[in-house]
Amino acid sequence: MIDTHCHILAGIDDGAMNMDISVLMAQMATEDGITRIIATPHIRNHYPTPHDIREATQNLNHRLDQWGVPVSVIPGAEVSMMMDLDSMLTYTINHTPYILIEFPHSYLPLNWKDIFFQLKIRGYRPILAHPERHPDIIRQPKIILDLHEEDVLVQITADSLIGTFGLAAKQCAEYLLKKNVVDIIASDAHSTEDRRPLLSSGIKAAARIIGREKAFSLVTKNPLTVIQGDLLPSFSHV
Ligand SMILES: [Fe+2]
Repeated sequence: MIDTHCHILAGIDDGAMNMDISVLMAQMATEDGITRIIATPHIRNHYPTPHDIREATQNLNHRLDQWGVPVSVIPGAEVSMMMDLDSMLTYTINHTPYILIEFPHSYLPLNWKDIFFQLKIRGYRPILAHPERHPDIIRQPKIILDLHEEDVLVQITADSLIGTFGLAAKQCAEYLLKKNVVDIIASDAHSTEDRRPLLSSGIKAAARIIGREKAFSLVTKNPLTVIQGDLLPSFSHV
């Protein structure tokens, strides 16, 4: 499996506090069946820079080699929608056109549709992180159906499906799965404690709704397509 959302880089954001925790997170991920992890630190005030992320990713891969942990880490970022557009474009996943975007936690910016539009006309492919955990989306989840129709990819958090973020987030995640608009499931892990780098329980829950093969593709085939910079089949307007 490939985890496309993980705060595994040490000492950069609210994820792994140090390199030891990063290695433990990677170890935990391998035990869950994960072989590749996209490192997605939050970007705040242009920190870390894309160069910092590449360097931290290389350092971590080197350490994982030394410890014999069979996971490779790939550079990415979780970009706030409030960031200026030109800066946003420098934080793509693995140098592909894909960008992982997060809404502000408690509201939707007035120009959010325009931001997605601007990204797309520049040739980028936005992936929206965990919409099922956002209060405004929970109130009106149909927004995401329209957004997906406009080629914005949808990534939900595995733990949402097992109730970690509450009943409303769980029901919203299930609704999005039933409506066939979820492209990717990811861990959004921050540590080895409460927000852990695990996918399998969430995938089991997803499989009960959309079937095992489809659920599994959300952590295998689709993430691989993203890493390679290829087009996902759900893109309708290419
Ligand atoms: Fe995150």
